[in-house]
Amino acid sequence: MVTSVLPRVESLASSGIQSIPKEYIRPQEELTSIGNVFEEEKKEEGPQVPTIDLTEIESEDKEVREKCRQELKKAAMEWGVMHLVNHGISEELMDRVRKVGQKFFELPVEEKEKYANDQSSGNVQGYGSKLANNASGQLEWEDYFFHLIFPEDKRDLSIWPKIPSEYTEVTSEYARQLRGLASKILSALSICLGLEEGRLEKEVGGMEELLLQLKINYYPKCPQPELALGVEAHTDISALTFILHNMVPGLQLFYQGKWVTAKCVPNSIIMHIGDTIEILSNGKFKSILHRGLVNKEKVRISWAVFCEPPKDKIILKPLPETVSETEPPLFPPRTFAQHIEHKLFRKTQDNLSN
Ligand code: OGA
Ligand code: NI
Repeated sequence: MVTSVLPRVESLASSGIQSIPKEYIRPQEELTSIGNVFEEEKKEEGPQVPTIDLTEIESEDKEVREKCRQELKKAAMEWGVMHLVNHGISEELMDRVRKVGQKFFELPVEEKEKYANDQSSGNVQGYGSKLANNASGQLEWEDYFFHLIFPEDKRDLSIWPKIPSEYTEVTSEYARQLRGLASKILSALSICLGLEEGRLEKEVGGMEELLLQLKINYYPKCPQPELALGVEAHTDISALTFILHNMVPGLQLFYQGKWVTAKCVPNSIIMHIGDTIEILSNGKFKSILHRGLVNKEKVRISWAVFCEPPKDKIILKPLPETVSETEPPLFPPRTFAQHIEHKLFRKTQDNLSN
């Protein structure tokens, strides 16, 4: 196989090119749905991503707590994505997370290359860009930094950014707090399904085995944003995904047959239900198709934390309590690794028939 070495998207973007290489141009059918993200974000008509206020999620008052859970449940069933507000993680900590990540990406590309991952040898952690995984050679307009942040004993701190020096401390604290938030959400979702409070947490691996992986997505300015995508349409394979961003719009959700642009909600964390919870809940909670647009004017950065079950230890399948005569299992049993395989295979098949 011939592999051509493509530069980092950041280098491409800063080289002054007026038109983007063909590998970044989306297929014709997709181009018709890509608009100007700033115009799209302003649109007020039509369905909008729900905002869930978590203030009362653990209220002493049973009814108050129940009302909060019902709102979460509705959002998880209808959308599978939401803006979480009053989630308990301080604005100050979120700002520090954004600052250390941004500082790392402000380093020269050569400096960042010292952290380059090596996907061909299975080292997925580190600084990287997408490798073309099919015959079309399709690429995305982003570079990223990917690494495991929780549990602490599974981290490899030697590959974490050393500049800025606060990176490790700040990112570790965020990981701990987000892990707590994940537990709260998993408890609430369990109760919504009529399960015991700790059930989903256990089913995705618990404190020891649920892995939190941080992907800092760096989307440079793009000279032809109407032709490219920062991240192509996909559903997340995780149990849950939590996303922070730098208040530049880009995320779109495919809802009722249309692309809906997520607004930028101050101090919120975007949360996705991923495929794992969709499977365990037998499709009651949705893993929504989404993608990322890019733009000419502003660099966009997002911090996505994927909460993932262990690759081989757990068989994912609809929990018996979510299955009945009228609600047969929608997903055959699979490990997380098999689920990833299955998705890659389907994608290859799609490409073959294009
Ligand atoms: C992802 C993703 C969206 C964003 O990394 O899986 O969907 O807003 N990112 O960057
Ligand atoms: Ni995603």
